Amino acid sequence: MTNTLEKTSNKSYDQKEWQGGYRSQPNEYEYWIEDIEGEIPTDLRGTFFRNGPGLLDINGEQIHHPFDGDGMINAFTFDQGKVHYRNRFVQTAGYVAEKKAGKILYRGVFGTQRPGGWWKNIFDLKNKNIANTNVIYWAGKLLALWEGAEPHSLQPKTLETNGIESLDGLLKPGQAFAAHPRIEKLADGQDILVNFSVKPGVSSSITIFEFAPDGQVLKQHSHSFPGFAFLHDMAITPNYCIFLQNPVSLDPLPYVLGLRGAAQCLKFAPNQPTKIIIIPRNGKDPMQIVETAPCFVYHHANAWEKDGKIYLDSICYESFTDIKAGENFLKTNFDHIPVGQLWRFNIDLASQQVSHAILNQRSCEFPVLHPAYVGKENRYLYIGATHDLPLNAPLQAVLKIDHVTGEQQLWSAAPHGFVGEPIFVPRPNGEAEDDGWLLVLTYDGRRQASDLIILDAKDLNKEPIARLHLKHHIPFGLHGSFTPAVF
Ligand code: CO
Repeated sequence: MTNTLEKTSNKSYDQKEWQGGYRSQPNEYEYWIEDIEGEIPTDLRGTFFRNGPGLLDINGEQIHHPFDGDGMINAFTFDQGKVHYRNRFVQTAGYVAEKKAGKILYRGVFGTQRPGGWWKNIFDLKNKNIANTNVIYWAGKLLALWEGAEPHSLQPKTLETNGIESLDGLLKPGQAFAAHPRIEKLADGQDILVNFSVKPGVSSSITIFEFAPDGQVLKQHSHSFPGFAFLHDMAITPNYCIFLQNPVSLDPLPYVLGLRGAAQCLKFAPNQPTKIIIIPRNGKDPMQIVETAPCFVYHHANAWEKDGKIYLDSICYESFTDIKAGENFLKTNFDHIPVGQLWRFNIDLASQQVSHAILNQRSCEFPVLHPAYVGKENRYLYIGATHDLPLNAPLQAVLKIDHVTGEQQLWSAAPHGFVGEPIFVPRPNGEAEDDGWLLVLTYDGRRQASDLIILDAKDLNKEPIARLHLKHHIPFGLHGSFTPAVF
């Protein structure tokens, strides 16, 4: 089947191979990776943590959408040219209960329903905290993040779950804590963690938190604004937190009646503007809201301030793709879903004017950059991308964009490989913005197993520095982070 791929299809991938990346991985492993092509750089030292759904079914019963899958943490520890791998499920209350029961007990935000039809789900508004979206190491705590509720903390060395983490009482029971914190590097070298909590409703509110490296809360302030808001990510600059309130409305009735998941009740309003919410980080000055073209955004690449303006780079879709109730996500027809493209917004707060431009035609998602450039003008951006232009397809490549020269480089794993979010790791004592490595977790449809690819971020046209072959697959995942700490 796979050998005839190039002859039978003009596509860069085989749908069946892609589907293989959405099989559950119920097993927990720990081992030194030995099947390696190339050499692991000895100055690449630290731990790459990555989160994502580990289960796509509960005892054979498929969940409705991967975003409803229980969080599984993967840890790759780099030390002295060797890499150790470990994965553990986050032992959330829901994961433990469903494992014991051997069946789906909870509804999921993205449409997973308890078996038995709408009468089993009507008025059941309990969703489980699945801890599946991101993982960060901050102030001595390893936190599995899910934007609907509090994080779970884990042991960084063993990945054992400690439990729900209130951050020393900061978060109230059930309070949201977003899965997209930003870390700002100050001029003195100190890191500041900025994150947020959203309470959506007829009017919505955002609470901003800023944390010192020791976990101390430096700032906390809340802001309300009209309308429903689905806010997955945030960009920061030295003075502002920036959100895009996309033109989606929520009709919660089918959710309350047990017919659909909450996220399936979102409707895109193509004739309404996107609102850009700009919150001053000083916690004193008023929030500002400016309008721009309708679009839908999950992720921002970066933002910065220059010449009295704010620049914001985001991955924009023309519209929000509804998650239909009767549809199987494995049958996704990529030709029929909108492409995500890199847009740049130019925001003039003085005149309240916003302009935007599409910077790149290729469909892409999961933008990353050198961590020291978060909130500052960056030259280089790395993004998961499709192999071909202009078709939509699963992500199979990593695109590097040079904003100064316009040059682009593409490293592709097609036709059998599928990529997730790349992670940029700066080379210790490196000076150039692209002096570092990209860690790319890929799924090889031929081997039906995953590989960790190490790329030289300076030149994606070169062969990878190393390919680390795992003994098994890791389901397609979401976000991760790198810490120089070795546990
Ligand atoms: Co995300």
